[in-house]
Amino acid sequence: MPKPPAEYPSHSLFAWAYSRVGSASDNRGAQGHRRQLLAGLRGNVIEIGAGNGLNFLHYPDTVTEVVAAEPEPYLRSEAERVARGHRQVRVIDARAEAIPAGNASFDAAVTSLVLCSVPNPRLALAELKRVLRPGGELRFYEHVASHHRSIARLEGLATPLWSRMAAGCHLNRDTLAEIEAAGFVLEEVERFSFGPIPLLPAVDHILGRASRP
Ligand SMILES: C[S@@+](CC[C@H](N)C(=O)[O-])C[C@H]1O[C@@H](n2cnc3c(N)ncnc32)[C@H](O)[C@@H]1O
Repeated sequence: MPKPPAEYPSHSLFAWAYSRVGSASDNRGAQGHRRQLLAGLRGNVIEIGAGNGLNFLHYPDTVTEVVAAEPEPYLRSEAERVARGHRQVRVIDARAEAIPAGNASFDAAVTSLVLCSVPNPRLALAELKRVLRPGGELRFYEHVASHHRSIARLEGLATPLWSRMAAGCHLNRDTLAEIEAAGFVLEEVERFSFGPIPLLPAVDHILGRASRP
C-alpha cells in the first residue's frame, strides 16, 4: 500500500461555496454531463474527490458498489448525507494519491472535476490504474486548458490566483495527455466548451472513457 501523503489542507470556505455553486452549475448543464459520464457503468466503482456527492444520483442500478473518496471534511459530511439515499454508495476519507484499496479491486473508476485540483495528477492516475482491474474503465469529466494558444496563455496567467481562491484548482492542465501518459488507452472523448459558473467565461471540458490495459 502506498504511503499516505501529508495531512489534507483545510479548504472550508471553498467547500462551503462549492456545495452551493455545484448544484447551480448542474442546472446550467453539468447534470447532463454527469449522467453521460456514468451511463452504462457496472460492477464496483471508485470515485475520487466525490465532493458533496453530486454524482451519486446518476449511478445506474448496474453499479453494485460505489466507494466515494473525499478528503475535505465539510464536503465529505455533505456527501455522507446524500449517500444515505443511495444504498450502494459508501463515502470514505481518502486522497486520490493514496487509495486505501488493493490492486485490481475495482471494475471502474470515476473522476469528475477533480484532476484539476489534485496536487499531483500523475500520482492520482497511477493510483487509479493500480486499483482498477485489467480491462477496467476510467470515466472522466474534467475542465482542461484551452486548445487556443492565446486563451491557454491567459489561463496559465490566471491559475496562481484562481488556484488560491478555488482550493488548488488549475485552469491550465492538459489532463487528457496525463491520462494517456499514465498508460490508459483512450476509448472515447468529447471536447466542448462549458460555462458552469455565471459571469465567468466558459472553459474547455473533456468527457470520456479510457481503459486499463
Ligand atoms: C471541484 S470539486 C469536484 C467535486 C465532485 N467530484 C463533483 O463532480 O462535483 C474538487 C474536489 O476534489 C477534491 N480533492 C482535492 N484534492 C484532492 C485529492 N488530493 N484527493 C482527492 N480529492 C481531492 C476536493 O476536496 C473537491 O471535493
